[in-house]
Formats: sequence, structure tokens, C-alpha cells
Amino acid sequence: MATTSADREQWGSRLGFILAAAGSAIGLGNIWRFPYVTAENGGGAFVVVYLACIALICLPYLFAELALGRNSQKNPVGAIAAIKSGTPWVLVGGLCVLTGVCILSYYGVVAGWALGYIFKGFVAPGVDSAAYFGSFVSDAGTVIPLAAVFMVITILVVYGGVEEGIERWAKVLMPVLLVLMLVVIFRAVTLPGAGEGLEFYLNPDFSKIDGTVILAALGQAFFSLSLGMGAMITYGSYLPKRENLLVSGGYVALFDTAIALLAGLMIFPALFAMGKQPESGGPALIFQVLPEVFETMPLGSFISMVFFILLSIAALTSMVSLLEVVVSYFVDETTWSRSKSVLLVGGFTFLLGLPSALANGGSTFLTEQISLFGATGFFSIMDFIWGNISLALGALLISVFVGWVWGTGQAIEELQQGAGDTFTGAFASTWAVFLKYVCPVVIATILGGIVFGVI
Ligand code: TRP
Repeated sequence: MATTSADREQWGSRLGFILAAAGSAIGLGNIWRFPYVTAENGGGAFVVVYLACIALICLPYLFAELALGRNSQKNPVGAIAAIKSGTPWVLVGGLCVLTGVCILSYYGVVAGWALGYIFKGFVAPGVDSAAYFGSFVSDAGTVIPLAAVFMVITILVVYGGVEEGIERWAKVLMPVLLVLMLVVIFRAVTLPGAGEGLEFYLNPDFSKIDGTVILAALGQAFFSLSLGMGAMITYGSYLPKRENLLVSGGYVALFDTAIALLAGLMIFPALFAMGKQPESGGPALIFQVLPEVFETMPLGSFISMVFFILLSIAALTSMVSLLEVVVSYFVDETTWSRSKSVLLVGGFTFLLGLPSALANGGSTFLTEQISLFGATGFFSIMDFIWGNISLALGALLISVFVGWVWGTGQAIEELQQGAGDTFTGAFASTWAVFLKYVCPVVIATILGGIVFGVI
């Protein structure tokens, strides 16, 4: 049964929304993915391109997702259908839901690693943390049950519904994570040899920028802010009209970017202090670096435990948002109940994640023998297709949809509710230019360049 807008759940408070949306945005993307993607793409120069993507593409685009969601009070498919039903545009909503399932499948695997490291994250002095992590992730008997436990917790939270489930958790725990990161940064930058890492991370070498770096930065920016697959359409749909979407969205982007930058400050000084090469870590990077930092800290085993607990919770709030998009689609658009949707989607996604769980040493075939578009192994292929290309494509299509089909006039009207006089004149028309021209043209150029192999 389709829910009407009158009985749709809403966020309990403004701060509740900001923290829940920040909870969606802040997750493994900031702490696990950002450092290794930065490492693989040349350090400081990547960071500059990443920040440019956030400011020029993601922020304007974020407002479009929020406006569309709140206006329609629907999931991505329903939101698009509410404006253009029975047209191929509805397929864009379908792409969002599919992308959500696919990202969730491998994200849950990494979340399982974080969960496991609560107990295993503290290595004895002298143990090679890279080899240690390698044997941990390649053990199917460990990583699969951990991913399963994580999915069950996610299912339980999403089952609890918007306000009770998601909001209550996000409120308390994100600030604690921030404080703990500052403590770890303090240790990392005071390690002998840390300076070289700061240099790599903060001093851009612009000769390293090429098409791959730009695509990686754009993909990372979308991934980190939970954009390009309708998560913010869905979260926006639970917002009341009095809410100022520009201010709240701006805070979310600010917090998310700050946490990513801090994660880099945690990892790079330590990585160089350990004498390791930045490119060598890949998705294993933080799991190799952090244990060695904790080892040098007083109360290290305790700090390690608390850190991985908080990282798991950050991952949980992100997983919840991914699952929520897919579940809200089934609840709004089919006859399925919330509980049935949550169980079926969660179960299916877990199964879909199994090959990713085995693609980090568990199965040689899945780890090494398949490659596509320069990504090797099932896990990296999934991340490249869904976590990079598909988010950019989704954002391209949704920005064209909001900018040209729904129309910036309508979107501006929606944004003015709650923002009032602050969103008029030059400010609003500049935003419209960004959404209609800058976002689609830049994204299409980058994607096109990759497809045709010119950049
Ligand atoms: N942004 C989250 C992170 O950084 C991951 C995430 C949650 C996500 N929801 C999303 C990514 C929607 C893309 C789309 O960990």
C-alpha cells in the first residue's frame, strides 16, 4: 500500500536531521575509502581536486536531491514518477535503487572488517600489521559471519523506523568519533618521520592530476556525501517544510568533508613514519596503519577498541541509509510491508556481498583473476562500477532531471520554503546555473572522457 504524505514519518528535530544525514554521509567512505583513494591518486593534488568537486558539483547537487525529496515526499523512484510518471526517467530511480543494493553489498563486508578489528585491531609489537590483516581478511570463516552480523544489526535499525532507529543513535555517537580522531591525529603527527606524510598529503604536486585522478575524486566526493543514488532524496522526504535545506545541507557537507580530511591526517603521517609506500595499501590501508599507531600509544589496546567500535557505528549509520533507500522504494511502490522489505532486501544484499567478501584473498579467482576497466578483483570492480561510475551517472541524470525536467523554478520554490528571503536573486540564479550547466557538463565530460578513453 502506498503511503500518503500525511502519515509519512518525519525527523524529530532539525539537529536530528543534520546528524542523521551526516551519519549517512560520514562512514567508511571518509575514514577507510578517502585515505586509500588519496594515496593511490597522488596525495595533495587529489585532495585539491576532491575539494573542488565538493564545492562546485556536490554542494549544488545536494540541494537538488534534498529539494526533490522534500517536494515529493517519496523514495527516488516515486519522486521522479511524481513529476514525470510513465516516462523513461523512472528508470533513473531504478538505477538509484540498484546502486544502493550493490554498494551496500560490499560496504557491509568492509563494515564487517571494522567490527572484527574491535577485537583484533591491536597487534603485538613486532607483528607485521599488513601480513596480519592479510590473513584476517582472507579467512572466509571470519569475514562472512562478521558481514552477516553487521547486516543483521542494520536490518534491526532500519526495521525500527526513521526516528526511533536512525536518529537516536546518530545523535550521540558522531561527536565522540570526532574527539577520538583528534586524539589519534595528535599521536600520528608526533611520530618520528611524520613530516614526510604531511608533505605528501598537504603539498599538492599538480603534475599528478590526470583523467583517472579527476574521476576518482569526483566519485569519492559523491560516495562520501551519499550522493548520486537518491539517499538524500529519501532523507529529504522526511523533512518538514520549515526546514532550511541550504543550511542543513551545508552543515552536512561541512562535517563530512572535515571528517575525511581529518582521516587523512590520521593516516598519512603514520604511514610515512612506518616507512611504507602510499600506493601499497589499497583497501587495506587503514587496517594496516592504525594498529601500528595504537601500538605506540598509552592505553593503545583500549583506544583501538573504542576506535573500531565508533568506526563500526559510523559504518552502521551509513549502511542504514543505503538500506533505507531501497526499503522505502519497496514500501512506497509495492504492496510489501516495511518488515518484509527490510528482511528480503537485507538478506538478498548479504548474499550479493559474498563474492566481495571472498575477493580479498579468500578466493584466488575473485581476488586476482578477474579485472575490468583497470580494476582487479571482484571487490574493486564492484566499487568502481557502483561506487564511482554509477554514482556519477546517477548524479548526472538527476541534475538534468531537476534542472531541466522538473525545472529550477520549481526547485527554487521548494528551497525557499524554510530558506525564505535568503535564497533569491543572484544566489538562486547562480545555483540554477550550477545545477543546469556546470554539474551536468562537468560530470558528462569526465564520464565521457573515461568511456572514450581520451582522459
Ligand atoms: N557516504 C557513506 C560513507 O561515506 C556511504 C554511503 C551511505 C553512500 N549512503 C550512500 C554512498 C549513498 C553513496 C550513496 O561511508
